[in-house]
Amino acid sequence: ASVAAAGQVSAERRRTAERAPSGRSFVNSVDSDPSLPEVRQAAREWVTAPPRELTSPMLGSTEAVDDVVARARVARASWVARPAAARAAVLRTVADELEARRGALVTVAAHEGGKTVAESDPEVSEAIDFARYYADRAEEIEQISEAEGLSFTPDSVVLVTPPWNFPIAIPTGGMLAPLAAGAAVIAKPAPPVPGCSEVVAEAIYAAFATHDVPAELMQIVRTDEGDVGRHLVSHPDVDRVILTGAYETAQLFTSWRADRLTGPGVLAETSGKNALVVTPSADYDLAVADVLRSAFGHAGQKCSAASLLILVGSVATSERFRRQLVDAVSSLRVGWPQDLGTTMGPVIEPPQGKLQRALTTLEPGETWLVEPRQLDGEGRLWSPGVKEGVWPGSAFHLTEYFGPVLGIMTADTLEEAVEWQNATAYGLTGGLHSLDEAEIRHWLTHVEVGNAYVNRHTTGAIVQRQSFGGWKRSSVGPGAKAGGPNYVAQLGTWATERRPH
Ligand code: ALA
Repeated sequence: ASVAAAGQVSAERRRTAERAPSGRSFVNSVDSDPSLPEVRQAAREWVTAPPRELTSPMLGSTEAVDDVVARARVARASWVARPAAARAAVLRTVADELEARRGALVTVAAHEGGKTVAESDPEVSEAIDFARYYADRAEEIEQISEAEGLSFTPDSVVLVTPPWNFPIAIPTGGMLAPLAAGAAVIAKPAPPVPGCSEVVAEAIYAAFATHDVPAELMQIVRTDEGDVGRHLVSHPDVDRVILTGAYETAQLFTSWRADRLTGPGVLAETSGKNALVVTPSADYDLAVADVLRSAFGHAGQKCSAASLLILVGSVATSERFRRQLVDAVSSLRVGWPQDLGTTMGPVIEPPQGKLQRALTTLEPGETWLVEPRQLDGEGRLWSPGVKEGVWPGSAFHLTEYFGPVLGIMTADTLEEAVEWQNATAYGLTGGLHSLDEAEIRHWLTHVEVGNAYVNRHTTGAIVQRQSFGGWKRSSVGPGAKAGGPNYVAQLGTWATERRPH
């Protein structure tokens, strides 16, 4: 049912103005348009600004971790005592403070993560949307508790470990959801992009100052990946860990926290191996545009990215579809984000292991439709690649690569296409391009993904409209989706209590 709902929302969204709750007039969480003069002007300043110095502490010992956790617990005591409306007010001020730092956020995302303005500007809008949406949820939890005679006890201390690929929106959502619930937060940014989280934290601290909230309620720290990091993740006074990252990391964190009576408390959105299916009834122009965006946005480095294109029946032999796809992929301008003409930026580091193999080698039966090329000496700029002839059950079919390479499979029927789409261990996003109602119904009924998109790209879920999260190995823990109605409410425990007479 949740798949059907997600798909219907996506289809419906096409008929409405694509406006996010942030309500900005020239950009929203769906699209940034760098051709608009006001965006171009601002972007020129953003991308030429110098890198900033890091300010968050590097914790060097387990005692330093204990100290941070203890301070978080103290700060939480007065926070949880505030009424929901007061907590929500802080989050709404955070939204305004983030807006005031749009340029700083985009600048740091370009310097640290290689994100283009077209990719990071909507991320700022998404972060703002998280702040406003979770503020509403804080108030809603209190209303539901009162109306239903329930009590909600939020987690005490939540550790947030966001990823490097969405360095603005995901840390913001991760930090603000526990704050909305009434918990204290310790955030440990991904090593390549700590500056982005620091700018988000500046916005939060500015809101704290306005509302007289102690800064220890939200602490941002860096640690090594060894004993100190493990001590933080497994700390007995950390009630929950919110992770966005690889499935293997979620497994590791869960094993470190396995001995708790209350369960490991790991809430993770993990990996994906996502496919977009195109049937002969599809609008090919729309399909090609969405393939491009799904596969090569942020150089394919999104858990939501489409890494497989499954062509059904005559689409596979359509010269027109093929030519359009090749032209579209070849038109991407690969470069650094500091050049505003760049439409596909660098990968986060020179590819190694499985991504390097996917970019440079073919498995039996595969051929290059568009062969990727290495463009800089450093190894981070790659032109996008498309390989045909991906075989069911092959490594490319089943492996997540997280880079600018797309594999094409061909299926005789939609039933076969869905079977291959579902064959991977993951179930994060999936797409269908079809104008046939019976096909859409069939696909929505059978596809095993958290976010099912009909006639839309597979990336860039909108807060509130398309809450984001997966099935199967793409999700670990209780699993209410980010940007959706129950995300904040899962960060605590609910109990029945007798209503006073
Ligand atoms: N929420 C991100 C997306 O939908 C991961 O692309």
